[in-house]
Amino acid sequence: MDKLAPINSPPTRSHSPPAHHLLFVLFITIATLFASPAAGQTEIRSGFQATPDQSISSFQPILKDPTGNFSLGFLRVNSSQLALSVLHLPSLQPIWQANPTPPSPSWSDRTRLSFSGRLVLSDSRRGVIWSTTGTDPTDTVVLLNNSNLQVKRNDAVSAREVVVWQSFDFPGNTLVEGQNFSSGAAALVAAGGRYAMRLGDDFMAMYADFDGGGVPDRIYWKHKALEARADVVPGRGPIRLRVEPEGFLGMYQNGSGTTPVDVQSFNSFRRRVGGGFYIVRIEPDGNLKGYNWDGASWVLEYQAVPDGCGLPDPCGSYGLCRPGGPTCSCLDETDETRSSRPTGGQCLPAPKGNFCGQRDGFRVLRRVGVDLPFNKELIGYVMTPSLEECEGSCERNCTCWGAVYNNASGFCYLVDYPIQTMLGVTDQSKFGYFKIRNDEAGSKARKKKKTGSGARVGLVFLCLSVLVLGGAVGFVGFRAWKKNLRGRNRILEEDEGVSAPGPYKDLGSDSFRSVEMGERR
Ligand SMILES: *[C@@H]1O[C@H](CO)[C@@H](O)[C@H](O)[C@H]1NC(C)=O
Ligand SMILES: *[C@@H]1O[C@H](CO)[C@@H](O)[C@H](O)[C@H]1NC(C)=O
Ligand SMILES: *[C@@H]1O[C@H](CO)[C@@H](O)[C@H](O)[C@H]1NC(C)=O
Ligand SMILES: *[C@@H]1O[C@H](CO)[C@@H](O)[C@H](O)[C@H]1NC(C)=O
Ligand SMILES: *[C@@H]1O[C@H](CO)[C@@H](O)[C@H](O)[C@H]1NC(C)=O
Ligand SMILES: *[C@@H]1O[C@H](CO)[C@@H](O)[C@H](O)[C@H]1NC(C)=O
Ligand SMILES: *[C@@H]1O[C@H](CO)[C@@H](O)[C@H](O)[C@H]1NC(C)=O
Repeated sequence: MDKLAPINSPPTRSHSPPAHHLLFVLFITIATLFASPAAGQTEIRSGFQATPDQSISSFQPILKDPTGNFSLGFLRVNSSQLALSVLHLPSLQPIWQANPTPPSPSWSDRTRLSFSGRLVLSDSRRGVIWSTTGTDPTDTVVLLNNSNLQVKRNDAVSAREVVVWQSFDFPGNTLVEGQNFSSGAAALVAAGGRYAMRLGDDFMAMYADFDGGGVPDRIYWKHKALEARADVVPGRGPIRLRVEPEGFLGMYQNGSGTTPVDVQSFNSFRRRVGGGFYIVRIEPDGNLKGYNWDGASWVLEYQAVPDGCGLPDPCGSYGLCRPGGPTCSCLDETDETRSSRPTGGQCLPAPKGNFCGQRDGFRVLRRVGVDLPFNKELIGYVMTPSLEECEGSCERNCTCWGAVYNNASGFCYLVDYPIQTMLGVTDQSKFGYFKIRNDEAGSKARKKKKTGSGARVGLVFLCLSVLVLGGAVGFVGFRAWKKNLRGRNRILEEDEGVSAPGPYKDLGSDSFRSVEMGERR
């Protein structure tokens, strides 16, 4: 059989094919079955084409690495959409995705992956959806044993292979062992697009999109190079980050050679057993985590934010996070229906923008014993002699959403983005002042007014029936969830239980319970 035979769309059923065709199809089918689960070829040559197979409900492998640990293929997302992804086959975790921005192409014969000089994902309606870059003529596409996808040219003169394009230069949410992440590269972006990690001159930092503008531009975590073994020399060039096989996240500066300017070690630093594999991933909750594949599961080895309350938004807008659980409640204590609620819900809908030019105005929410959830050095402050003056400086400023005042020190922190989760503290000298835009608050108040005394009885009945129904559904759901959890990989269990809304949820951990290699309907 031709090794390079593309994986084609299913055989046509409309006419009875000739016998030799049938035999051929049978042969292909058997060959595919035997090649499973690491099916797919090890090299793609010019002229290659593939379309999604309608009978595959999870993952259609196209190109595999020499060890069979990784595979590039079509991944079915959201039941009818397609992502061109590199999967770690033993755990079915996506390591890289070619087309992360929606809309995804459909899982239909309109969608096609082809290679002739460039690897192109296209759709007969929308045209080119994604493609590799580079103008050099190229000959082959290979997947390396570290998951790096490379488009190469065989240089006839030097008789060497030249890499024209590689997926390592276009990271998604994951960095793998040996992959260079430079400040020139695009950010590492969490599924959902709300959080991103980037490198600065001498630091790495994570940013959030708090105002719904679509750009993660608010810093919430920063790690400056400690420069224990080598200094960052200004002007010498950018820094880069790499997950090292010895078990650490190293920062290097161009020109400093192999001596790191910073080392963040994993739990198994220098004592990894067996032939493991490290990855670092920015999670949908905004944490950066490092894992090691121990041959059976992904073991959590590093967390940039060890405490759940230190994350940018663990309890949603106007939520309150208390360390130790962590547990979530709402900033508004009078909102008794939401004072204790499961994580993932919202106390108030996430607002956008600010108060400048807003006619609706705002109401104010005050709370004692609250603090900023993450590094305060990253947030602007003024010194004021009193709480009133601190509140006043926020009240008058239309870009200010709230303030946290420390009565002991006089520090007045001004929050200039929509209020996310705040930190609950026992220190009663810390005061919180929060603006709630009237369009949000007003719509709630209006709803309350409508439910007069007559409607109240009906409402109670409605609430009761919803509770009973919700309880039943919840119980069944919980059992199903528990059952599912048992079968999940450790990497999925380590998640803090903060559900991540967003367009890539299907690509995230959840859907991978259902991915089975070569599964046919
Ligand atoms: C991966 O490939 C490199 C060279 O291409 C080789 O040195 C290394 O041993 C391989 N690793 C595994 C796990 O196969
Ligand atoms: C990462 O960068 C180092 C230093 O520039 C280089 O030697 C190495 O080959 C790079 N690795 C990859 C996978 O590109
Ligand atoms: C990295 O350093 C080399 C010399 O050490 C220099 O030629 C090169 O321009 C530097 N790269 C950048 C991006 O500054
Ligand atoms: C790759 O496969 C080998 C055996 O086939 C296994 O020992 C190793 O753990 C795998 N590596 C990864 C990263 O999955
Ligand atoms: C703030 O601190 C001052 C003195 O340190 C104290 O007199 C005042 O009562 C405190 N205000 C509040 C609201 O606790
Ligand atoms: C309003 O607050 C922002 C930050 O919260 C600050 O940068 C700006 O200078 C303030 N404007 C005024 C007029 O105080
Ligand atoms: C799934 O598809 C539906 C309908 O096209 C869309 O509304 C929804 O946002 C998609 N979900 C994800 C996670 O992409």
